[in-house]
Amino acid sequence: MKDYKTMLAQLDALVRDVPHPVANYANASALLMESLEDINWAGFYFLEGETLVLGPFQGRTACIEIPLGRGVCGTAAAKDETQLVYDVHQFPGHIACDSASNSEIVVPLRRDGAVYGVLDIDSPLIGRFRQDDREGLEAFARLLEELVGPVR
Ligand code: SME
Repeated sequence: MKDYKTMLAQLDALVRDVPHPVANYANASALLMESLEDINWAGFYFLEGETLVLGPFQGRTACIEIPLGRGVCGTAAAKDETQLVYDVHQFPGHIACDSASNSEIVVPLRRDGAVYGVLDIDSPLIGRFRQDDREGLEAFARLLEELVGPVR
């Protein structure tokens, strides 16, 4: 099981008092990629109007715009709810950016009660993400909300 406590302490050390949101999200995506096993994409989308726009990430090139409500990311943002997807091929409307991806977790980011973006992680393994990952990554998102916030 991943040691999320250590990862949260590393995130805190990386972003606290750093007044550069884009740099902080870039470092957060690198931290996720180097810390978690069996993942092939980790990054962020930020809401602009009714569209999620690609932010800092690690992994293969990805789709730039995702309408609110579409795919796993758009669903997480529209419902304001973490999406833990065991098998992306069973998720209606899943947007395949990297054909190697088989499972996915998307956690909304909020400021003042409103969603401003999502944290998205993909895995080539079916069923990669479990309850402990959900709890760890939701805590990771809460820390980003508190210490970084929206990119603009
Ligand atoms: N699979 C996502 C799209 C983003 S990529 O995974 C990086 C979705 O269905 O929203």
